[in-house]
Amino acid sequence: LTVPLIAPSILSADAARFGEETKAVDEQGADWIHLDVMDGHFVPNITFGPVIVKALRPYSKLCFDVHLMIEPVDLFIEPFVKAGADQILFHIEAGPHAHRTLQTIKSFGIKAGIVLCPATPAQAISELLDMVDTILIMTVNPGFGGQKFISSQLPKIKQIRQMADATGRDIRVSVDGGITKETAPLVIKAGADVLVAGTSVYGQQDYRQAMNALRGTDKK
Ligand code: DX5
Ligand code: ZN
Repeated sequence: LTVPLIAPSILSADAARFGEETKAVDEQGADWIHLDVMDGHFVPNITFGPVIVKALRPYSKLCFDVHLMIEPVDLFIEPFVKAGADQILFHIEAGPHAHRTLQTIKSFGIKAGIVLCPATPAQAISELLDMVDTILIMTVNPGFGGQKFISSQLPKIKQIRQMADATGRDIRVSVDGGITKETAPLVIKAGADVLVAGTSVYGQQDYRQAMNALRGTDKK
């Protein structure tokens, strides 16, 4: 099995110390930093916008994986690029013009990702595969950290892995929501190669140990 990349979500970090919390997971072996942007409209919660992303930029050189749970999307791409996003992910459910959104993101020379909610079938993104760098499969309904993993998404992860591989392009398959050391082996087996994790990293004392437990590299 492949060792997945770990992208800790700062949503579960100490919000008063986001900078230090970003630096801490960087120093302890994180691969990407996952930033959950929520607008209180597309999802029933509000987090932060480009101002915070920009403020965090000096704390890590790792890939800033910016997960937009907002609607509309296009208006906010440039502000997040300017804030320092390395990859912008948006939801296929957030509007009818995902192709245009991907073009806009790519026009800034950064990476683009598309996200599917649990209710959305894999086929919904079949016409976009030539433009995406990452496909993110939500394994909870977006909006909150600390929810229970929805295991019905496992066949979809497998299906998307096959769709991604069939393109011959290097596409990352990421999962987000309820990833723990118990569910990680299931999603890795299904084909995920990036694990987003909030609670199971920031809810632990030892971040390095927590990330290695998700990778499965903690066992001798
Ligand atoms: C949920 C967010 C996730 C969330 C994951 O809407 O997109 O990134 O922070 O949190 P855990 O890992 O606690 O389920
Ligand atoms: Zn997320």
